[in-house]
Amino acid sequence: MKIVHFSDPHGGGPAEDWMAYFDKRWVGVFNYTFRRKFRHDLSKLATAVEYILDTRPDVAVCTGDLTSAGQPGEFAKVLKILEPLKNSDIPLIYTPGNHDCYVRRPKCVEAMHAAVAELAQGKYVYGDMPCKLNIAGVDFLVVNTSAPSNLLCSWGFLRKQEEKFILENCSGEHIAPRILISHYPMTEEHPLLRIRHRLFGQKKVLQAMKNGDLDLVLCGHVHKPYLKITSDGRGECCAGSVSSNGSMVEISCNTEKRTFEFHTITL
Ligand SMILES: [Fe+2]
Ligand SMILES: [Fe+2]
Repeated sequence: MKIVHFSDPHGGGPAEDWMAYFDKRWVGVFNYTFRRKFRHDLSKLATAVEYILDTRPDVAVCTGDLTSAGQPGEFAKVLKILEPLKNSDIPLIYTPGNHDCYVRRPKCVEAMHAAVAELAQGKYVYGDMPCKLNIAGVDFLVVNTSAPSNLLCSWGFLRKQEEKFILENCSGEHIAPRILISHYPMTEEHPLLRIRHRLFGQKKVLQAMKNGDLDLVLCGHVHKPYLKITSDGRGECCAGSVSSNGSMVEISCNTEKRTFEFHTITL
């Protein structure tokens, strides 16, 4: 079976209401206006959508950060580009990134929930996560590791409930390949250097990966793509940012042997 994985398009725009200057949104808007706007090209996301529609994988995975400050207009901009994919018969899996869960402002939270419902094409809604989907013989464990944080940090947390869900689904007879879908990477090589940007609470999940109980993690958040995998292709795959690096990953999975092959695409 074939998976196409992309992440972090980071659509953005101006502040959408005056309250945005009093919560964290001004940080995202500032970053977008002076930095991201010049680094992220949403036309690459449109090219990615065309590529996916042409190659027709068994499933497409988006590991979050659709937006810069989680505002409804930013979601609308990106969802419009993703519309042909969303309306196709190719199953899509989406989990929100920290920029999609930027603030607690109700209209932003509602827009994020609506994005999950739309992109998941009726398979799940925000409140159903963590959830398990079996698509083309592969078990996908979809978790949300993102939540609003303070002005200076973009850290994520794998809460007890998600940890329990992953460990329960990684025990017992291991027949179908198990793939964890998370915005944040599970592995962290520079835990102190990246303390403001990293995930916390994933220790037992890393052990499950080491034991071979969890086959693969698909993540984003880090904008440069990378593969941290063993010779049979198990481990962690970060798609990088589709709009800044034009990166995307095509993954072929042998469902009987539970092995993976990766092909990194630059658009
Ligand atoms: Fe990102
Ligand atoms: Fe992120």
